[in-house]
Amino acid sequence: MKNDFLPINGTDYVEFYVGNAKQAAHYYQSAFGFQPVAYAGLETGLKDRSSYVVRQGKITFVLTAGLTPDSPVTKHQAKHGDGVKVIALWVDDIEKTLNELRKRGAEVISDIEIMEDDMGTVKVASIKTYGETIHTFVERTNYKGTFLPGFIKWEPKYNPESTGLLYVDHIVGNVEEGNMDKVVDFYRTVMGFEQLISFDDKDISTDFTALKSKVVASRNLRIKFPINEPAKGLKKSQIDEYLDFYVGPGPQHVAMATDDIVKTIEAQRERGVDFLMVPDSYYLTVTERVGTIDENMSLLKKNNVLIDRDEDGYLLQLFTKPVQDRPTFFFEIIQRKGAKSFGKGNFKALFEAIEREQENRGTL
Ligand code: FE2
Repeated sequence: MKNDFLPINGTDYVEFYVGNAKQAAHYYQSAFGFQPVAYAGLETGLKDRSSYVVRQGKITFVLTAGLTPDSPVTKHQAKHGDGVKVIALWVDDIEKTLNELRKRGAEVISDIEIMEDDMGTVKVASIKTYGETIHTFVERTNYKGTFLPGFIKWEPKYNPESTGLLYVDHIVGNVEEGNMDKVVDFYRTVMGFEQLISFDDKDISTDFTALKSKVVASRNLRIKFPINEPAKGLKKSQIDEYLDFYVGPGPQHVAMATDDIVKTIEAQRERGVDFLMVPDSYYLTVTERVGTIDENMSLLKKNNVLIDRDEDGYLLQLFTKPVQDRPTFFFEIIQRKGAKSFGKGNFKALFEAIEREQENRGTL
């Protein structure tokens, strides 16, 4: 793509720092249908952490836990709870990538590291983004292994079926009030991203709470990062709740794409994934709002799927409840039928559903 100084092939992996990686990996296998891929820990020579790698479609998650009280992983988890630490991006030329990033003022937290095993070479380097979250750039052109050098194959007997997840559609970040534009500027200036759509707090508010959101995307549109900040409302917004419990900014949700949302959600619900409930009343006006769609509306209603339309088509989506003890990170399941946006028409219904959950938690 012309003038794209930072071409990114896609999301390479997302790494979560968690309290117990072994058990978290089991949850991703059993509840979401991720397949076991790789492992690193004491047995592979690591001293302070262990990591389990799971994969479904093109989505690779790394679940990492600290093994000692002074491990940076343990400290991160103690402060933030379980959450996303690394959003890794797949590039073809790490030297050029890091040069361009440096030139534009990126805060480099680890310089190019060459990792090697008998499957080849991977080069990585990391920069800081919002909060304590980092972007690791991964060049794997000369690597034939399944994940990264240093990892061994993880082949447990327990291996439940996939639920149809295909790729990471977008990853949303929550930042403090007044910082959204700074983070958007960082992605535009340092990483050469473009801003896609802008909402203001009038777009995204209920009677009680509000937020602002802007979307930045890589030039080739393979990477999309909506950035949220809280806005003044009568009560405490879900973004404030996130910032309190995560103790600072961080990734709010990862949206994972499927090409059959009903099948995916039915399978995940069956296996114990908790989804947000929308009231039946949502479906009274939905046809009026989105027009005719291919799917059976009563099946969508039964599965609580949300629908939105933009000028390019429509989308189907649903959100899980937080997937750890703190009310912070959650997942979105999304099926795009042409639409390129993020479900603005659903925000009100969605936030009202979240407010009901906040009410139960006493954090509204
Ligand atoms: Fe989303």
